[in-house]
Amino acid sequence: LSSFSKTVLQTTASSSNMSLNEAKRIAAHRAVDEWVKTNTVVGIGSGSTVVFAVERLAERVQKEGLKVTCVPTSFQARQLIVENNLVLGDLDRNPKLAVAIDGADEVDRNMVLIKGGGGCLLQEKIVASCAEKLIIIADYTKNSEHLGEQYKKGIPIEVVPMAYVPIKDRIAAKYGGELKLRMAVAKAGPCVTDNGNFILDWHFKQNCDCDWAKVNSELLQIPGVVETGLFVNMATKAYFGMNDGSVKTQD
Ligand code: 5RP
Repeated sequence: LSSFSKTVLQTTASSSNMSLNEAKRIAAHRAVDEWVKTNTVVGIGSGSTVVFAVERLAERVQKEGLKVTCVPTSFQARQLIVENNLVLGDLDRNPKLAVAIDGADEVDRNMVLIKGGGGCLLQEKIVASCAEKLIIIADYTKNSEHLGEQYKKGIPIEVVPMAYVPIKDRIAAKYGGELKLRMAVAKAGPCVTDNGNFILDWHFKQNCDCDWAKVNSELLQIPGVVETGLFVNMATKAYFGMNDGSVKTQD
């Protein structure tokens, strides 16, 4: 792993993290092996699990001469691609991707995802929408029946900074729950995305058997909402690295 990758993993480290990292690694390696073919364009998601996907891509480039162009979904993903000496692409030159490989904060039984825990949801959704397949890699803690069961940080909503208060009020009035402006790590001010926007984390009502496609399109109608972390009907397949060393798949 490059020093940048180690830093990404260390920022999310905890005592139980060794086994979680192993779960992320086996899911990522399996997905890369099954989905990435030579002479293709691959979208590179963001987060700690993607570090292992990039690690595997770099290994395959070295060992089998795999040829891939990688389109990043964030500054972090761009750094990972560059530091692993992979070919860096962009949507100007590579508007169609064979596959995008990305992590998720939660995946429900219908393959609806919450993404954006790392604040990269907008570019992740754009790149995923340009890919024929979106493949999700995660550890076993991300697999849920219903959204909100495992992931307690809410649904991230990227908003234009000047509109965060009215957006917050409108969403709370219509759907209930609580919306929190995401703060930067040192809490010196709001977290600012790669696109210069703010993030509202929407702590919606638990155990909601919502029509997430409808909720997503309604949220997108609100002026100032740039994108949501709800990914509905986008993911092709999810790979979960399990506690016992196996990989569970869902599609
Ligand atoms: C970033 C994301 C990540 O893919 C998501 O937060 C999962 O991250 P990790 O692999 O670290 O659990 O959506 O915006």
